[in-house]
Amino acid sequence: MATTPAEQAGTASAARTVKRVAVLPGDGIGPEVIAETVQLLEHVGARWGVRFEFSYGRIGGGAIDEDGEPLPAWVVDLCRGSDAVLLGAVGGPRWDRNPPHLRPEAGLLGLRKALGVYANLRPITVFPALLSSSPLREEVVAGADFLILRELTGGLYFGQPRGRVQEAEGTAVIDTLHYTEREVERILRLGFELARSRRGHLTSVDKANVLESSRLWREVAERLAPEYPDVTLQHLLVDNAAMQIVRNPRQFDVVVTENMFGDILSDEAAVITGSIGLLPSASLGESGPGLYEPVHGSAPDIAGTGRANPLAAFLTAAMMLRHSLGLPEAADAVEQAVAAVLADGLRTADIAREGEAALSCREMGDEVRRRIQGRDDV
Ligand code: IPM
Ligand code: MN
Repeated sequence: MATTPAEQAGTASAARTVKRVAVLPGDGIGPEVIAETVQLLEHVGARWGVRFEFSYGRIGGGAIDEDGEPLPAWVVDLCRGSDAVLLGAVGGPRWDRNPPHLRPEAGLLGLRKALGVYANLRPITVFPALLSSSPLREEVVAGADFLILRELTGGLYFGQPRGRVQEAEGTAVIDTLHYTEREVERILRLGFELARSRRGHLTSVDKANVLESSRLWREVAERLAPEYPDVTLQHLLVDNAAMQIVRNPRQFDVVVTENMFGDILSDEAAVITGSIGLLPSASLGESGPGLYEPVHGSAPDIAGTGRANPLAAFLTAAMMLRHSLGLPEAADAVEQAVAAVLADGLRTADIAREGEAALSCREMGDEVRRRIQGRDDV
């Protein structure tokens, strides 16, 4: 991996043995998967000689209920004062009818913006043990291994003006797709860097045949390309990219794209791995703590049933150990333990096939912890 500024900060803090982690469990299955993840980290800490200091904050629906807003200022302060932020998920039907600024999602978007985490890394890897869990054919998904790099603090999600307006013909709505050249360049540069640290292939996804923002995006990508002669740059229109991801996912190494396209393509790519319950993500800024959240949502339909899959949250914790806490070997150990439970045939409900027993969230947590190799073991 290329070293991002946040990662350098992480390495610097490796000298300290105390790692401060802000924990925002959130709504739905968030608290269940995060409880298992905190236990996993405690276990990792004990095996690797690191002390984690967890401080808890509220975000999303829970914060709306308790604090009257989805992202209270004290939570932003808590996050800013930590080495990394671990978040579960936000949202649920309870708050679906709230006005936009009192929706749980507003808390998440506000936190991303407040922390300036413009780069969202969503790795898509296939576990050999789960090849048959994907609805796609095994020969299509086998060996797929790519990284979606999603711009996270610009574009349609944040552009102004937005809202409802009255026009002569009646109600109209506005969303604005806004990017500065600087924002585009910084995410594309990271794309080149990450591609350089992997297999040297960068796919830039846009809609340059229609959108002005995409034309600038493509221009900047072309301008930067000569600085990275070891990286092959390819442009793909987003509609074609959506098709290629399920047609032949092995062709991708790093896929860099704007906020909304990245949101959509990363859910689509989850199909390759068999379950969105397996996808981790890391959001990094130019400085300050990284934000770590599984790609899955709050899954209100199964919240409280103990059926949630904690593996995405575990893999997310691995990304946190690697990118913000300067503990790459502990990260490897977590990833290997996750691969090991899957290889041993253990499944949660989302990835169990008919007739296969499904472990609860907690049981899966126990099994992964039991397989963690520590520094003392080598
Ligand atoms: C994601 C989610 C969020 C997003 C929602 C919950 C606001 O879908 O992280 O992909 O659209 O970014
Ligand atoms: Mn999404």
